Amino acid sequence: MRINKFLAECGLSSRRKCETFVLEKRVKVNGKTITELSTEVGANDIVTVDDIRVAPIKKHVYIMMNKPKGYICSASDEHDRKTVLDLIKDHNERIFPVGRLDYDTEGLLILTTDGDLANRISHPRNEISKTYIAKVEGAVDEALIDKLRGGVVIDGTKTKKCRIKLLEFKNGMSRYEVIISEGRNRQVRKMFESINKEVVFLKRVAIGDLRLRGLRRGEYRDLYPEEVNYLKMV
Ligand code: URA
Repeated sequence: MRINKFLAECGLSSRRKCETFVLEKRVKVNGKTITELSTEVGANDIVTVDDIRVAPIKKHVYIMMNKPKGYICSASDEHDRKTVLDLIKDHNERIFPVGRLDYDTEGLLILTTDGDLANRISHPRNEISKTYIAKVEGAVDEALIDKLRGGVVIDGTKTKKCRIKLLEFKNGMSRYEVIISEGRNRQVRKMFESINKEVVFLKRVAIGDLRLRGLRRGEYRDLYPEEVNYLKMV
């Protein structure tokens, strides 16, 4: 097997990122630093990265979590905030979140050891849709919502067309379903900010056809095989 595939199967990162480990001369095979991406390795080879031995993970882990607000989606945080990995109790593998939900956002998060799958799902080229429930205070003029549907400039770039539907207006709050096919930083919040509306609650309820169901905040479960297959096909 080629070295980048081997390293990806060790759960280190995607195949492409693993190539950089080789180019940075961090990888040794049987004690010898390698620099060729075409290097092939087998089950009997001893492979190290930064002098730590790595071995392929037999089976990848795929988890669906209902992320609560108040957690960040990375392995560590400079401000010592809690991370979603703090919620995972029964896994020793190197699991990482696929894409990000911001600190104040809750809902569907996928975590996995499978770097290739993670990359495919988050790659902008694949345009997998993400469905959010967003609440804002007061009623919003439909013409402004239409502006958001057509695309607004955030951080200097126009957002792609998206779908937004008013689900309910209750107790002075508008509840929207927002379906976007990009994954830009704080995108939904910034879209509403662009029309001077603050999102006071944000939850992701679906990634493509994969829906968050039956999990309380902070709970997680393994994905069913058909859910994993679905994500591998998108
Ligand atoms: N949009 C946001 O504003 N935040 C998220 O976490 C995801 C999408």
